[in-house]
Amino acid sequence: MESGRYVAVYGAYGHTGRFVVAELRQRGYVPLLLGRDRDKLLALVEAYPGLEARQASVDDPASLDRALNGAAAVINCAGPFASTAAPLVEAALRAGLPYVDVAAEIEANVDTFAHFAERARAAGTVVVPAMAFYGGLGDLLVTTAMGDWTAADEAHIAYGLSSWHPTGGTRASGVVSGQRRNGRRVRFSGGRLEYHDDALPTLEWPFPAPFGPQSVIGEFTMADVVTVPSHLAIAEVRTYMTAKAAADLSAPDTSAPIAVDERGRSAQTFVVDVLVRSGGTERRVAAAGQDIYAISAPLAVEAVDRILTGRTRTTGVASAGAIFDAPDFLRALSPHLSLHVPFDTRG
Ligand SMILES: NC(=O)c1ccc[n+]([C@@H]2O[C@H](COP(=O)([O-])OP(=O)(O)OC[C@H]3O[C@@H](n4cnc5c(N)ncnc54)[C@H](OP(=O)(O)O)[C@@H]3O)[C@@H](O)[C@H]2O)c1
Repeated sequence: MESGRYVAVYGAYGHTGRFVVAELRQRGYVPLLLGRDRDKLLALVEAYPGLEARQASVDDPASLDRALNGAAAVINCAGPFASTAAPLVEAALRAGLPYVDVAAEIEANVDTFAHFAERARAAGTVVVPAMAFYGGLGDLLVTTAMGDWTAADEAHIAYGLSSWHPTGGTRASGVVSGQRRNGRRVRFSGGRLEYHDDALPTLEWPFPAPFGPQSVIGEFTMADVVTVPSHLAIAEVRTYMTAKAAADLSAPDTSAPIAVDERGRSAQTFVVDVLVRSGGTERRVAAAGQDIYAISAPLAVEAVDRILTGRTRTTGVASAGAIFDAPDFLRALSPHLSLHVPFDTRG
């Protein structure tokens, strides 16, 4: 196996990390199994005899350097990313490797852009934060919906989730983000992140069939408010979440996801419905699939594949829509995602 096929996965034994490891193998890559817990790594190797596991801690840069040795790229699946993103990006920069993560933490994603944009660009390397369901997919959909527009007045990204059984990592990341906001809420308005204490509105969103109209929580702000404005001139970026899924997430006793198929996916279904508006014209595109954690694996691995095969548009810290050909990327995910273009006012 050529060395360019080795991809390091930090947090390999986590729920999302396991999907990423399986997807890499499916695509002909050899995952290097990285994480901080030796026993959990050994248990994962039992499931994947022949794969190499390497223990590394974000508090020990030398251990990260050793762990990345021989890899062609690194995918960071270990969250909260407030703790892991910076040390892993630093290690990737030292090694000259592309870095992709699945961070859904707004402040951690902002930090990645703020702290590493210049150094990554100067090094000619690529850092792609939020290359997952939240942040990455929404950005690819917004970029696709924009078509030949380079600016718009508004982007609306509505998440239709049949349910949300959060993992421990999702819950821990939510706690960390909440602490970083001092319990305040955040939205993207007037071209910037705005912290506030307003109550969140409940409204109805007309999702495409079979979801149909659903009650959603407005200003349920997700990582798309970092990825989309990082490269598109849109002053208002709003995200919405089905009220049912928001209630699942906030309930302390909602169970973790339960696998229902041979790929380990849960029964959760989703549709991400995107609307961009400029003047009086709207453009819209949506994507539907199964399991928000599972879909993050083909998103992250497709990103790495495109980076390693030179199908990129820029270097430095970049979001999915900026660095990849968004419609082409979404088409490549057709085994996992069905695209809906319910109406299109271009013409
Ligand atoms: N953007 C998206 O749409 C999206 C999609 C999927 C996941 N995510 C994010 O990805 C993260 C992981 O989610 P998950 O579902 O895989 O959760 P999970 O199953 O609980 O796994 C969390 C993983 O992170 C590791 N980890 C946590 N803190 C660490 C630290 N300080 N140093 C090293 N490793 C650490 C854990 O290792 P230990 O077991 O040793 O603690 C474990 O491997 C979460 O932040 C989640 O929000 C985002």
